[in-house]
Amino acid sequence: MITELFNANLLKGQTAFITGGGSGVNLAIGRAFAALGARIGICGRTEERLASGRATLEALGAEVFTAVADVRDPDAVQAALDGCKAALGPVSILVCGAAGNFVAPAEAISAKGFRTVVEIDLLGSFHATRAAFDQLRETKGNILFVSGGQSFVPFAFQAHVGAAKAGIDNLMQNLALEWGRYGIRCNSIVPGPVKDTEGMKRLGGEAEPSLWNEMTPLGRMAEQEEIGQAAAFLASPLASYVSGARLCVDGGQNLTGSTLFNGAIARELAKARAAE
Ligand code: COA
Repeated sequence: MITELFNANLLKGQTAFITGGGSGVNLAIGRAFAALGARIGICGRTEERLASGRATLEALGAEVFTAVADVRDPDAVQAALDGCKAALGPVSILVCGAAGNFVAPAEAISAKGFRTVVEIDLLGSFHATRAAFDQLRETKGNILFVSGGQSFVPFAFQAHVGAAKAGIDNLMQNLALEWGRYGIRCNSIVPGPVKDTEGMKRLGGEAEPSLWNEMTPLGRMAEQEEIGQAAAFLASPLASYVSGARLCVDGGQNLTGSTLFNGAIARELAKARAAE
């Protein structure tokens, strides 16, 4: 339980806004923040996911704001951030978490497919930072980008995701550089394999469950809570002098590279082709 590790008032009085916050790792980050006293705004594409995210966060005692907004639409993101401010006060923590992924050989990705992932991950993150800027300047807040190992280790069948995540980390450093003068910190968190997430389903976590354990020095996937704990540290005053950093929360996975993944997914894709 995170409140046994951190002071339960660590984020008291703060408002966090999390894009894609209705499920998965982003909701785990929201749960950690809520347990530590923050008010939580979340946006996402579907009302259903937002409603279940709201119920989870309210059960932890948080005041919650939800807005249906696709991060690809800057006006919708701006309206969500404005609505969050009206409901919960100015945002002091922004988590750019909304992401899209599919596994495909580069030669099978259409222009639209590539653009879709870059639009959700990279442009979506930019839209959220722009929409939250005035509030973050007012609160001297901080931004947490949810990146991925693909940012700095090439993974086969992830050309679009690698481009998007590398862009996110570059944007993070650029904004850390530019917005430091407003007292705004910017950092990335790099989750490795995380149990029971949409992302892991898409990356072979079901097809070959032991694959990611083998690829990870700690020999196991993360519990979602472990990503929340690291996010809580980075977003909190405990990290008040940390800006422009990329924190890998991946059990050391990036140290082993992508070779095992590349082989396993190539076999899966070949099987799928043979079955067609
Ligand atoms: N292989 C190749 N291309 C694919 C693909 C696959 N497995 N899945 C989607 N695409 C392409 C589509 O074919 C389409 O391009 P086209 O019209 O030229 O054929 C393009 O991507 C957009 O797909 P679409 O389904 O219309 O987009 P969407 O906005 O509804 O969904 C995705 C976005 C594709 C990222 C979808 O996977 C998604 O919604 N993901 C969100 C959840 C998620 O990925 N979570 C994990 C995060 S780590």
